[in-house]
Amino acid sequence: MGEQRSAQWYSGNDRNSYIHRAWMRRGVPSDSFEGRPQIAIANTASDLTPCNAHLDEVAEHVKMGIWEAGGVPLNLPVVSLGETQVRPTAMLWRNMAAMATEEMLRANPIDGVVLLGGCDKTIPALLMAAASVDLPAVVVPGGPMATGTFRGHPLGCGTDVWRLSEEVRGGEMSNKEFLRSESSMIRSRGHCNTMGTASTMALVAEALGTVLPGLAGTPAIDSRLLEGAHETGRLAVELVGAGRTPRTLLTRASFLNAIVALAAIGGSTNAVVHLLAIAGRLGVELTIDDFDRTGAGVPLLVDLQPAGRYLMDDLHRAGGFLAVLREVRDLLDPAALTVTGFPLVDHLDEARIWDPEVIRVRSRPLQPEAGIAILRGNLAPGGAVIKPAAASPHLLAHRGPAVVFDSVEDMRARIDDPDLPVEADSVLVLRGCGPKGYPGMPEVANMPLPKKLLEQGVRDMVRVCDGRMSGTAYGTVILHVTPEAAAGGPLAVVRTGDIIALDVENRTIDVEVGAEELAARVPNEATVNGYANPRRGWERLYIDHVLQADTGADLDFLVGSSGSEVSRESH
Ligand code: FES
Repeated sequence: MGEQRSAQWYSGNDRNSYIHRAWMRRGVPSDSFEGRPQIAIANTASDLTPCNAHLDEVAEHVKMGIWEAGGVPLNLPVVSLGETQVRPTAMLWRNMAAMATEEMLRANPIDGVVLLGGCDKTIPALLMAAASVDLPAVVVPGGPMATGTFRGHPLGCGTDVWRLSEEVRGGEMSNKEFLRSESSMIRSRGHCNTMGTASTMALVAEALGTVLPGLAGTPAIDSRLLEGAHETGRLAVELVGAGRTPRTLLTRASFLNAIVALAAIGGSTNAVVHLLAIAGRLGVELTIDDFDRTGAGVPLLVDLQPAGRYLMDDLHRAGGFLAVLREVRDLLDPAALTVTGFPLVDHLDEARIWDPEVIRVRSRPLQPEAGIAILRGNLAPGGAVIKPAAASPHLLAHRGPAVVFDSVEDMRARIDDPDLPVEADSVLVLRGCGPKGYPGMPEVANMPLPKKLLEQGVRDMVRVCDGRMSGTAYGTVILHVTPEAAAGGPLAVVRTGDIIALDVENRTIDVEVGAEELAARVPNEATVNGYANPRRGWERLYIDHVLQADTGADLDFLVGSSGSEVSRESH
């Protein structure tokens, strides 16, 4: 004792150490405070985060591993975010969840932490927290749900909601049939089974080196998840002994490996803001252009929805994430370490592809170049994101007149108006959806197509937005436009009828309006300040301090680290 952080609370024979020990006894062995690593289990289990509701059971298995390795497990319920439930968008609360978790880890007598997450924002928030407090940390991803079926076909959560609802709007399916699919959509515990944000962030966390290699992507109902949780508990104790903290593990090389992985799996565009935010907490130099430079040429090897056909349990059956990484091993930095203390590439030798339709070999990719492309131009001077793998190839070079919506409410009110001046070659523009503008940067960039065009058989259009897109969505969508309209970006002054030119190959997005005219245009009040409810509390703090999407949409005062030191005693 004496070396460990928790000894600052528990060692000694004075009044304060007495208080700290006495209140924690409650049945634990009496030697629990004598140098045994105190391991928090930062647990996002919540009935209101249905994708994470099973994490209490996972926590029990983590606990067994911690006890077994000589540590003391401590359940620490932390802020949880159910993607489908919280309003106005879970992204508004990601930084709050990260801040609250960071502060609770720092405030408590903890030597290390196991991070239990699943649903979209939970793993990013936990990793941001762990990065800032810099205590030894390891993630257990909660795993994807089992695949449900409807009319004999597998259902991809999220992706098939978008697809079926468009079929209803296009007159190809009755609303009654649509509602019938509802009970089949979520078949079991676990997070969305597509390559949406939850699956992406679990796999990306493993590529970063923060998960026991081979565990991410294990289905939530699979007993091997509990086995991995048990082993992770043991590993957490080892991490404390080795002093293996996020700052010692996560380097620029780790993030570049994560970008390669993101491209190879066809992962969610949301990983861009999350990885940038985590890197910002660590002081690792990472920019949006790294996603293009490192990832754009990487082949898509995983045939999963929304870019492909299969679902997460298929990926696991086919060999899992490590089999994917093995195919791109030459693109991975061999120096990047994992929580095991060994490089990521050292864990790839045993991996095998068992179903080459689900995981493609390198010589037979689903798409030869699949990563995220970063566009710039007079419409997005700070950059914008597109995922070419989820877009229509014929729209990747396109010119068309803008149809502009000032807010999601404006878009919903007019998108199906028969008099809307929209044609198949129009470019739908939605603004007021950035970090400050909404606030919270919601997943609305994949606007529904106008009903009259759907009825004509149109299935994709170029869409431009300062918000985000669900990882389960698809289409030719340019998102994260920076600066956003509410921060004075040019998007604020685009008008219906302006010609917008997209050229993904040359990485440009422009509005064909002269610089002088653009500068002279004054945005309307609704664009800059469309959300007029009184603001206080977190929302006030968020709007005043949130950064733009190109650096991860963190709060300015949360970038960086405070470390784990708390010098003042509580009594
Ligand atoms: Fe939780 Fe999709 S809603 S992962």
